[in-house]
Amino acid sequence: MAQTTGAACPRAGAYGSEATGERGHLSRRTALLECGARRFGAVRLAVLVSGTGSILEAMLRAGLPVDLVGADRPCRGLGIAADAGIETVLVARSDWVGGSSDSGRRFDREGYSCELAAVLGGRGVEVVAMAGFGTVLDGSFFEWSGGRYRGRVLNTHPSLLPAFPGWHAVRDALDAGAAESGCTVHVAIPEVDAGPVLAQCAVPVLTGDDEVTLHERIKAVERELYPATIAAFLERCAGEAAGDDARREVELEPRQEGQTR
Ligand code: GRF
Repeated sequence: MAQTTGAACPRAGAYGSEATGERGHLSRRTALLECGARRFGAVRLAVLVSGTGSILEAMLRAGLPVDLVGADRPCRGLGIAADAGIETVLVARSDWVGGSSDSGRRFDREGYSCELAAVLGGRGVEVVAMAGFGTVLDGSFFEWSGGRYRGRVLNTHPSLLPAFPGWHAVRDALDAGAAESGCTVHVAIPEVDAGPVLAQCAVPVLTGDDEVTLHERIKAVERELYPATIAAFLERCAGEAAGDDARREVELEPRQEGQTR
């Protein structure tokens, strides 16, 4: 069962956090959101988080019109959203672990993926941005309700894909002695850390780097690249929706006698 927090006025209120020291950029954010509403139309965006949510914070700072934040476990990211007055929903993966097998308790990935899609779909979400989301979603998420989320889920990964997919991308790059790594923003598909690449940016590996220092420098880049790429993606979606509306209007226009088209 999904747990939600509502917000009487989802986009009002200060945002930021003690962790970043950013607080109360209300007027700047309001201005960005107004501008966002013009650029992005009414495309409803959800962000999925599991961890510290620093990339979510960057999205909010950039003025992205985030309508909903979802998580698979209690995490700081949910608090960031709640502080910003954004609706949150917790669809706990622990609720989908059960049964027994030789290898222990089994996670019902398909059941969880369907449930999450239904929760987001029920709130009118059209585009999903994963930002440190810790559950791999299977095909049933993308294909839910006639493929609602096919091609509509974005992800950011801390490596230059296809190099170093998986959970330990930063550690793997260091272990491989790579001279550089970076980040990749891509359209997510059921295969993990695969799908059409939208943007990439290299980050050099410095002498003495460990997993934490390298990951932090990569995240600094992700905090710029991901919001900008999502904004461009939303604009394209809004443009497509406007094009569809215009086409429908043309199709609905009554034809004049003898008129051909
Ligand atoms: C990012 O590096 C992202 O690429 C990876 O998880 C990290 C999320 O960081 N998938 P945060 O929780 O937003 O700080």
